Amino acid sequence: MIFDITNMANFVNNDELKVAQRKAIEAMQSLVEDYENDGDMLGWMSIAADIRPLIDNIERCASHMRRDCDAIVICGIGGSYLGAFAVISALKGYFDYDKHEILFAGNNLSQDYLLDMCDHLEGRKYGVVCISKSGTTLETAIAFRVLRNKMEEDLGLEWAKEHIVCVTDLTKGALHDIAVLNGYQMFEVPDNIGGRFSVLSAVGLLPIAIAGFDIRQLIAGAFDFYRPHRGVEQCGEILDYASMRYLMSQKGKKVENFVSFEPKLRGFSEWWKQLFGESEGKDGKGLFPTSATYTTDLHSLGQYVQQGDRILFETILSVENSNRELEVPRTQDNLDKLNKYSWYTIGYMNSAAEKGTVMAHVAGDVPTIRIVIPKINEYHLGQLIYFFEIACAVSCKMTGVNPFNQPGVEDYKANIRKLLK
Ligand code: PA5
Repeated sequence: MIFDITNMANFVNNDELKVAQRKAIEAMQSLVEDYENDGDMLGWMSIAADIRPLIDNIERCASHMRRDCDAIVICGIGGSYLGAFAVISALKGYFDYDKHEILFAGNNLSQDYLLDMCDHLEGRKYGVVCISKSGTTLETAIAFRVLRNKMEEDLGLEWAKEHIVCVTDLTKGALHDIAVLNGYQMFEVPDNIGGRFSVLSAVGLLPIAIAGFDIRQLIAGAFDFYRPHRGVEQCGEILDYASMRYLMSQKGKKVENFVSFEPKLRGFSEWWKQLFGESEGKDGKGLFPTSATYTTDLHSLGQYVQQGDRILFETILSVENSNRELEVPRTQDNLDKLNKYSWYTIGYMNSAAEKGTVMAHVAGDVPTIRIVIPKINEYHLGQLIYFFEIACAVSCKMTGVNPFNQPGVEDYKANIRKLLK
């Protein structure tokens, strides 16, 4: 992974950067101290090591679901959904016809969505993985109830018992109780890991393994990238990212636009937005995390980014190599005048688009950070997950907010409860 801040030189001077880096180092040291003192909610910092004994079990359950089911519905919302969604959508081929279709439910309250999904499952052999740490989240619980009833009617109680899996607290909660009563297999959401930091636990790993991807490589990427006992020295680039974000906020750049030039990273952007938005946005503080996929969004948001209110900076997740190469074809008539590009691959043109965009945005007062990975695969996604999780926790420490709660999310829930009384 390459962390490139050359385009920040016009926006941040060395003295400012040094002060921010000092603050980031202190924040990181305090995070590690908290971890060493068994700090609350910091289990994710060593999950890449701690999860290893459970991997066989996760893979066994995944093989069982893959063997028997042609569709598997992953039921969850927020941190109980976005990590798996990010990794699966990044690794899946764009138009793969998958023998094991992975569907996501329980992340909205649209009845059309649920009914269309039920229609889609008609006549198929399907499984359901319900993921909820609390076990009481409304969107997830409702979808699970609908799907469970449907499965029992369609495929019978015995099938449901064998093909419903719950990922939840192992000691308490409604989902735990449902699983115990019905004899469903259970995996743990560790008590000391919050939803949005849980992708490397069974919360993310089980759906990713069911989708057929290599969770050992994902874990290896994370494990090689960061281990708590190795100290802050391993975190230089993470701390630079946190420092730059801090300085951007100080300079009135209140919006961080997370950009990629590869559409399959859209799901990853959604995960990134939740991680930073729910962790940082409290006490009247925090950058607003948004995302764009270029070049698609250069034809929509691009205008605003170039010339709208100067409140933005960008973090580009850049991918060096595609899976395959395609050259611009030559034609006889050349009416579209593209023959002059015919020795280029489309990947080369995409990287030219990225360079051109960075130049334009930097000139238009949009500071730009680049994070470059060689390729989209399990290993590099594992690295990125730890990169952003640690950067997020450090950023929160720097601004003095608690990254691991989400008191603001309760307000809408309380209103729903009142309205439904
Ligand atoms: O990051 C978080 O903690 C939240 O987004 C939760 O994951 C989300 O609210 C779902 O909660 P639960 O897993 O309890 O259903």
